Amino acid sequence: MERRTKIIAIANQKGGVGKTTTVVNLAAALSARKRAVLVVDLDPQAHATLGLGLEKQQGISLYPVLLGEKAIEDVIQPTKWNNLNVIPSEVDLAGAELEFGIREDRLEMVKNALAPVKESGAFDYIILDCPPSLGIVMTSSLVASDGVLIPIQAEFLAMDGLALITGSIERIRASVNPSLELNGIVFTMVNGQARLTQDVINEVRNHFGEKVYETTIPRNVRVSEAPSMGTPVVFLDPRSKGAESYKAFAWEFMAKNPTRFDAVPAVPVASAAPAEPVAPAPAGDAEAAPCAEVPAASDSSSAPVPAPTETPQA
Ligand SMILES: Nc1ncnc2c1ncn2[C@@H]1O[C@H](COP(=O)(O)OP(=O)(O)OP(=O)(O)O)[C@@H](O)[C@H]1O
Ligand SMILES: [Mg+2]
Repeated sequence: MERRTKIIAIANQKGGVGKTTTVVNLAAALSARKRAVLVVDLDPQAHATLGLGLEKQQGISLYPVLLGEKAIEDVIQPTKWNNLNVIPSEVDLAGAELEFGIREDRLEMVKNALAPVKESGAFDYIILDCPPSLGIVMTSSLVASDGVLIPIQAEFLAMDGLALITGSIERIRASVNPSLELNGIVFTMVNGQARLTQDVINEVRNHFGEKVYETTIPRNVRVSEAPSMGTPVVFLDPRSKGAESYKAFAWEFMAKNPTRFDAVPAVPVASAAPAEPVAPAPAGDAEAAPCAEVPAASDSSSAPVPAPTETPQA
């Protein structure tokens, strides 16, 4: 069966809107649903790396791959959880904006670096955590992607911020990456009670229609505590409001973005989240090879996913 890997950039030039939290928890919830996931941390702050329980390590990031010094297989790290892998970030990536800005292939550098892994089909989803700027790292991430997911907060001037990033998406689509889609917009840190919140959500829904995910992520203290424990909240406290909403969001995301599991009918968002709690792999599986998981029994038409270390070079 044909395997297709979707590359999704999670991006917003505005800082602190919940990009990394969404990367970490969407990836975790997808991996618990037996989707093979690779998170690529492209932000030198390395919050996604830390949030997935890994330390920063010199030489283990996309940076040496972009320089042509390492093969991408050598920087893919397993996490404690099955199906969930990460290319960590390191501080050297901070220099990438200046250093790579003069490269001729700068727009396609992330795409070229990820190509062997994408073509191998080893992962269902490759999720890119972008830094909060419209610089070269974010731009080349969008060039590498099939879709862009934009987390935003429901606050004053949200539409202005959206116009900036959707403008960038349009420009990239019109030039280097015609297949780039706006995957969707997800509201984060929502305070359901506030009048302004509902007004902003309605305004964005009126403008972007179905591109706005039904699921919204509430502000929830467990979500903000989880990074310090190096564990996604969907694993740390699966029954918390934040975890439940990220699991429901992952269902909605999977339904909109089918990969190898196209044949499996999507479970409606409302009934899906409580039915099958997301849990980390049992302790005994903690050392399992990254992404060596065989798809669930119900996914019998799908082939097992090879470990990234078996990824052939393009
Ligand atoms: N649903 C939530 N409830 C409570 N706190 C949250 C929630 N989502 C994110 N946060 C917190 O808000 C802060 C910013 O979130 P996050 O780091 O995900 O944003 P970001 O867009 O990646 O930021 P940056 O632009 O700096 O990369 C973090 O401290 C995070 O723990
Ligand atoms: Mg971030």
